[in-house]
Amino acid sequence: MAEIAAPRGTHDILPAESASWRWLLQAHDRIAESFGYRPIETPIFESTELFARGVGAETDIVEKQMFTFTDRGGRALSLRPESTAGVVRAVLGAHLDQERRPVRVHYRGPMFRAERPQAGRQHQFTQVGVECIGERSPDLDAEVIEIAWRFFDALQLTGVRLQVNTLGDAEDRRRYRDALVAYYSPFRARLCDDCKRRLDINPLRLLDCKKDSDLVAGAPVMWDLLDAGSKAFFNDVLSSLEKAGVPATVNHRIVRGLDYYADTVFEFWHDSLHGAQNSLGGGGRYDGLAELLDLPPAPGTGYALGAERILMVAQRLGIAPGPDPDCDAVVCSVETPQAQVAATFARELRTAGVRVVLDVSERRLDRKLRAADRLGARAAVIVGEEEVRDGTVVVRDLFEHAQQRVGSPELTDAVSRVIRMRA
Ligand code: HAM
Repeated sequence: MAEIAAPRGTHDILPAESASWRWLLQAHDRIAESFGYRPIETPIFESTELFARGVGAETDIVEKQMFTFTDRGGRALSLRPESTAGVVRAVLGAHLDQERRPVRVHYRGPMFRAERPQAGRQHQFTQVGVECIGERSPDLDAEVIEIAWRFFDALQLTGVRLQVNTLGDAEDRRRYRDALVAYYSPFRARLCDDCKRRLDINPLRLLDCKKDSDLVAGAPVMWDLLDAGSKAFFNDVLSSLEKAGVPATVNHRIVRGLDYYADTVFEFWHDSLHGAQNSLGGGGRYDGLAELLDLPPAPGTGYALGAERILMVAQRLGIAPGPDPDCDAVVCSVETPQAQVAATFARELRTAGVRVVLDVSERRLDRKLRAADRLGARAAVIVGEEEVRDGTVVVRDLFEHAQQRVGSPELTDAVSRVIRMRA
């Protein structure tokens, strides 16, 4: 029988990688919570309609990239390709906006998109993100951007470039769509198949095409068609960012791949990631999303960042922490009769907060000590016949190759002293 491999576009996070994952996820929790954002978790699958209506039926994500299935009751469900629609559903569904406005939440978890897998692009990937729901203010757009910025700072991830743009309000976008259709229509015959369709159903997406990129340079620019109110809102976002000390580049070509955005949109780029995958994350304002979901109107703003892409950059910059040792100490018996006493010592140490692996195998002591080295243990506690008889125990410092014999009541103190030397 053939070996069963992990599904295409997925990867396992093995124990050696867990320290760098914890580093990233805990930093995001810490920074988001320092701004008053509280954790939220929503289901990994949702009704397909949530994404069709929220993200947009004509977007690439919904049209081509969703993992959709039918449950036993005939309902169409999809693995979530993103979290914003689900979070808005959950927050407004639970009427959290009646207790406090805005509602500030942060999340982390797996998302699923059936894109062609390559470096930085997977079928299952992890996002960390925040959403701020219930109030419309340029200061809140700047606030969510600042959270992401402080998060990159906390990781010491240098070289991130913030790109910001505005898509204006619904009326601005209608004008812009018309302008794009007028510009692209004479070129219809030479457009790629995707762009021919985009021209009819979602002209904003024409600007994202890599094949017809020569046309993008001459396309009308959104900014030129915005009304004064939209421009003023965006300028307030920019000045709020400046006050927060977050450097932003205005890039009028940022349109984003999800339909729910209005006004502010932004992306975080990193040059060490290439091509279409250079974006560490992005977000923006989505004031019309709640209504698309038939929920009471509620403006919102937020972002999501791709954890795998951030870790790729962190590895390149050499800032991701290496693997943690498996344990602090190994307790080994020299021979079988001492196994019970060794197990008792191990339990005692664990109760005191020491991470302990117990080795009462039949292996020779020198092998056990070599194995302890491989686990990254700093201390070995050796329990032999003599030790059991005298009520003593040998504590060995595996880094310094020094050892001492202590009475068993002093065991915890002696091990703690050796371990502290690691810190
Ligand atoms: P998005 O731009 O579709 O936005 O995704 C955000 C980030 O998720 C991307 O910049 C990228 O780092 C990561 N990502 C997306 N697809 C993949 C993939 N196939 N493999 C690896 N990483 C990927 C959103 O998802 C919006 N919900 C953001 C948002 C929140 N807007 C407002 N609030």
